[in-house]
Amino acid sequence: MPRLTRRQFMTTASMAVAGAMLPVWPGGTQAAVEISAQDYENLPPLRVTAAQKDILYGAAVGTPNLKKDQRFREAVIRECNVIVPEWEGKWKALMPEARGAWRYEPLDELVQFAQENAMKVRGTALIWHNAFPDWAAGALSEGQGASLMEEYIQTVVSRYRGRIFSWDVVNEAIDPKDGRDDGLRQCLWLEALGPAYIERAFRLAHEADPSAQLVYNDFAMEYWEEKADAVLSLLSRLKNKNVPLHAVGLQAHLQTEKRSRALAKFCAEVKKMELEILITELDIWDNFLVNDVQKTDQLAATTTQKFFELLMPLVRPKQILTWGLSDRYSWLSSKDLNKKNYFGKHVRGLPLDDNCHRKQMWNALHETLMKV
Ligand code: XIL
Repeated sequence: MPRLTRRQFMTTASMAVAGAMLPVWPGGTQAAVEISAQDYENLPPLRVTAAQKDILYGAAVGTPNLKKDQRFREAVIRECNVIVPEWEGKWKALMPEARGAWRYEPLDELVQFAQENAMKVRGTALIWHNAFPDWAAGALSEGQGASLMEEYIQTVVSRYRGRIFSWDVVNEAIDPKDGRDDGLRQCLWLEALGPAYIERAFRLAHEADPSAQLVYNDFAMEYWEEKADAVLSLLSRLKNKNVPLHAVGLQAHLQTEKRSRALAKFCAEVKKMELEILITELDIWDNFLVNDVQKTDQLAATTTQKFFELLMPLVRPKQILTWGLSDRYSWLSSKDLNKKNYFGKHVRGLPLDDNCHRKQMWNALHETLMKV
């Protein structure tokens, strides 16, 4: 089950209070209604259209889903030329029990699957407050932070050198709500090593694989100006210190009712710093979606389309990844929520439906790539 970030937890909690007012999805809990757009099935896969424009298209996938679901596996092979492990590359997945007790198999299997199907692999995330192994808090408070970070980053990045070409080195390190002047999120790494933990992580990753693309990844910079500014200041501090940082990942968990008003300034400033911009986790948080499948799908598609209409004149990302490919495996749903998202709606925020048929959102991506 996905771990909720504090942001998600708080939103969920407040929506639960308002729960009585939420409309109920018609037709029960499972994928009762399937809209497959036959028209799209004959179009070339996103992988092919993207490659013609020198862009990688891909998705976050979990090894268990790849193994158990042939239809999903085939869809990933058909549509993607890059994949990113949804969970398998995170610290808690790689070292769940204790320092040095590595568990590589799920990530190894995913990387092997990618190689067999001529796909690239991104890695995420070396440092992320939400994938912190339970045992590690004690180790950090005992002063093992610096050596632990060194051992962990060096081991993982060098093990996958040449096979994982791009790493989210630090994920979601900014949170203005925590009230610090530098905008940094309060987290155990910050407590243990001070603000320099970020720079240290990038330098270690670079030493372990000098050819890997190193990325700072975060969410909501398109919507939340205060956060976008704090991220820009962090990037600028890192650049001024010659930290090996190559790109910024816009997660792009898009919300249908919001305008990306902070995007233009953010992209302009990032360009001035000569950093690339990647779209790393695109999907639709359909919290305001209407209670109608066709309208839902249309809104997901127009939200995607509008985002790219704003973005593309500003930057041309060389990588576009959605956070999942099929609605069946979206992080926004979970068993507990009966395939509904945190807002109580059925999840349809990805390019393919539960049965891996292309939806209007798929077409929005297709059209975006065609227009580049
Ligand atoms: C999520 C995965 O989708 C879940 O399966 C896992 O339990 C927790 O992590 N932002 C990110 C991603 O940067 O790494 C998160 O992925 C989703 C939010």
